[in-house]
Amino acid sequence: MSNNILLDSMTKRIAVCITGASGAAYAYRFLEEIHNSGIAETHLVVTKPGAMVIKQELGIASKDVEKIADFSYDERNFMSPIASGSFRLDGCLVSPCSMKTLSGIAHGYEENLVIRAASIALKEGWKLVLMPRETPFGIIQIKNMLAAAEAGAIVMPPLPQFYFRPKDINEIIDMTVGKMLSIFGIKSELSKEWGVEMREETEYAKHD
Ligand SMILES: Cc1cc2nc3c(=O)[nH]c(=O)nc-3n(C[C@H](O)[C@H](O)[C@H](O)COP(=O)(O)O)c2cc1C
Repeated sequence: MSNNILLDSMTKRIAVCITGASGAAYAYRFLEEIHNSGIAETHLVVTKPGAMVIKQELGIASKDVEKIADFSYDERNFMSPIASGSFRLDGCLVSPCSMKTLSGIAHGYEENLVIRAASIALKEGWKLVLMPRETPFGIIQIKNMLAAAEAGAIVMPPLPQFYFRPKDINEIIDMTVGKMLSIFGIKSELSKEWGVEMREETEYAKHD
């Protein structure tokens, strides 16, 4: 892919935001898949707590994650393109999404570039996918997820599809990443479809 910020009309443009909830691996694999396929241009923001969790969970620095994004911005950089709705995106992913960031998105409190980019996606009617991670969810967090969903966000906690019988943690992550990619309209080998995968176990009649 060219490193030109002015896209041809076929390429997707996606903001990828990593916050300080557990589950940095999901965003990392999402970026990796897009980086390998070159099907979309990615604009990355990692919050400060996000960088700490990346270090803790993946054992790498956020700089290493930046390497597989096309563009990356500091969470305070309101001069960046994705801080304005005039810079058209095909969607925004917040993965993982902390309860703090979820709250900011649900209430329109645009205190950093992640929440600003997510708010823009909502107001512009672009796809916004949130991957909130906490357990258990309290009532405040459930209400915040409802508010975000009512405003148009797709709320997608990282919950495994055990019916595909994942063999290990990498397969669990990849299945969820496949789902994330398909929500953004990106075809990937990671996306699994019931009735296509595990076909022998799917009961349906084929009509000629
Ligand atoms: C190792 C680690 C794991 C964390 N996991 C979560 C989590 O799963 N969900 C959550 O909401 N916050 C979690 N936190 C706390 C957030 O990082 C913290 O609330 C932070 O203020 C979020 O800020 P941000 O949304 O700007 O990244 C975790 C923190 C650490 C250090």
